[in-house]
Amino acid sequence: MKKIILFAVVAVFSFLPLTGRAQFVLDTDNSSFVLKAEKGQAPLFLYYGALLDKGDLQAVLSGGHSHSAYPTRLTDTSAPEALSVEMPDGNMTAKLCVESVSEGSWEGGKELTINCSDPLYPNFSVALHYRSYSSENMIETWTEIRNGGRKPMTLHRFDSGFLPISEGNVWMTSLHGGWAAEAELVSEPLRKGTREISAHTGVKNSDIAHSEVLFSLDGEPCENSGRVIGAALCYAGNFELRVITRDDGVHRFFAGISPRDSWYTLAKGETFTTPKLALTWSDEGLVGASRNFHRWGRKYRLHGGGVPGDILLNSWEGVYFDINEAEMHKMARDIASIGGELFVIDDGWFGSEKYPRDHDRQGLGDWTLLKNKLPHGLQGMVDECRKEGIKFGIWVEPEMANTTSVLYETHPDWIINDNGREVITGRGGTQVVLDLCNPAVQDYVFGIIDGVMKQAPGISYIKWDCNNHMRSPGSPYLKNQNHLYIEYMRGLEKVLERVRAAYPDITIQLCSSGGARVNWGLLPWFDEFWTSDNTDALQRLRIQWSTSLFFPAEAMACHVSASPNHQTGRIIPLKYRIDVAMSGRLGFELQPSTLSEEERELCRNAVSDYKKIRQTVQCGDLYRLVSPFDDKGLSSLLYASEDKSQAVFFWWRTVYYRGQHAGNVLLKGIDPERHYKITELNKAPGEPVSELDGKTVSGRYLISNGFFFPEKNSYHGSNDWHSHVILLEAE
Ligand code: GLA
Repeated sequence: MKKIILFAVVAVFSFLPLTGRAQFVLDTDNSSFVLKAEKGQAPLFLYYGALLDKGDLQAVLSGGHSHSAYPTRLTDTSAPEALSVEMPDGNMTAKLCVESVSEGSWEGGKELTINCSDPLYPNFSVALHYRSYSSENMIETWTEIRNGGRKPMTLHRFDSGFLPISEGNVWMTSLHGGWAAEAELVSEPLRKGTREISAHTGVKNSDIAHSEVLFSLDGEPCENSGRVIGAALCYAGNFELRVITRDDGVHRFFAGISPRDSWYTLAKGETFTTPKLALTWSDEGLVGASRNFHRWGRKYRLHGGGVPGDILLNSWEGVYFDINEAEMHKMARDIASIGGELFVIDDGWFGSEKYPRDHDRQGLGDWTLLKNKLPHGLQGMVDECRKEGIKFGIWVEPEMANTTSVLYETHPDWIINDNGREVITGRGGTQVVLDLCNPAVQDYVFGIIDGVMKQAPGISYIKWDCNNHMRSPGSPYLKNQNHLYIEYMRGLEKVLERVRAAYPDITIQLCSSGGARVNWGLLPWFDEFWTSDNTDALQRLRIQWSTSLFFPAEAMACHVSASPNHQTGRIIPLKYRIDVAMSGRLGFELQPSTLSEEERELCRNAVSDYKKIRQTVQCGDLYRLVSPFDDKGLSSLLYASEDKSQAVFFWWRTVYYRGQHAGNVLLKGIDPERHYKITELNKAPGEPVSELDGKTVSGRYLISNGFFFPEKNSYHGSNDWHSHVILLEAE
């Protein structure tokens, strides 16, 4: 059974009188995070970096470098703050003084809570939480802000966490993009001033920028060397990451829910809990930090983490809205015949009599099966797939409606809309967002999934899409419109909790016009995400590379699609397309009936090869070797199993110029002391194989000499689209 995130806290908490020791250390296998908490004083941050021994700790303590652990609007009025609160009497400052500390352990590490209060406002309190994950080298931090009084307070800023980073040659790497061009990598040196990365779309929060960043502390980012701090805000709504650098030698990093148009009224007795900020430290470069995120994510945050996903065929690019039962049966047979394990029907199977979903301009919200398209219903599809020995899945977009739907006509007040203004629509000129702040709408949205599952209990996969921003930001349900963005996310989380309580074992894919909702905030309820609507293998190399900075291959759906590609028009041979998709969770997104017998055979072999390597690819350790962003005409990476007994090496030529030689790519992540049998996978007629194919060589040899692939053709032929997938098995 797949698992939902659960923290088994071994509660050995102790409340400390705070008379003696004032420093508190959260160690992981390779890092230490040090705080100071003295009763009556401000909580202080002292250190985050390489693991400290006792002597080192003394050095840190005597070093005299400290910052407020959670600056408020008071610490220094000219300094930026993590927390700004308007007290009931209108005072706009807050002072945090330590009251008590509780320290404990859970099965994966340590827990620390620093409880603070404000001497002037005894009813106001703040708890700073820290949790360490020892083997994954992660620290999570979050904050609880409490109004214990009788009058409301207003939160003007309420970050999850704050981290000071010493100035030097520090670079920040972040992900930016748009539809079909997700996760373009931006690396920049941090300079004086303010750098903000944020999203204010309400729903699709990674559409333009991601809520994760990496700080390279030793100059320009290197994949495999240098000290790196990684930070991921685990939240799916509006966010702000800020780096503020003044003249005092420190980059101040803040991360939290964006307060823009979101001041929060904290009612009497209410506690506001921020989302978690996950931090990691590595001295093995960017990819060292990525491996920490992957291990932590697979074990503790990704629903179903550690269980490789099925090889599937999704109907979208194959037939788009043109769904009919005979064709769906045929596609199911086709994917089964090449060894696939799951068939998914995308958009177009539902609607109402008045608004059948024959195109993207109508029908969202009316979740009735269209009998003319699937006369035997969803259960008929489940049965048909079972006959073929595969599973069945379905697409839904439950948070949305079209204004052309019976739902909208019946419940116009269920739509996100700013108080009677003309609603601004999205996709198809008619798409609107349902108001998940409203409990009745939450019931309705849960009912969509529940209804589908009850219609056909054998459904094992759901693609949960979300294709609109909040364009007319307002909730007809809420009294306080400042709470719109936060309450929407709370409503969504409530629905997802119910879905997972009822259906813990189904696989759910998170999709948002491709990868516009890729974040660690939602993945506790989802098993994977659709990385991008762009299935062009060349651009996918970039998108998948940068997405892998924070997310494991297990979560990254990568599908082989048709050529010419539907998003870029590029023509790429099938072997190359497969070789790119094989580096994530492999699937297909095409009409199999367009494949020739030879191409089918290639797919069949690839699927069979992929089954041998998918545990390592999806759940192994990633070593990024040559970046597609570095203009070397090449991209390469490797996955190794934890015990290094199996590794899979990927090599793709991205552009070919005569005279630009790819050179040897040296391997990392394998054991120099062992010997590895080398097998070229996904062999295709006429394509070169490695000269080491079938041979056994030492890990040492591969680490110091690597793989070299001569040009495919020495004189007249094309050298474009040259790629290799190589299996290494320790003897
Ligand atoms: C979005 C998704 C696509 C597909 C369509 C269906 O664009 O990203 O993969 O599901 O919706 O309408």
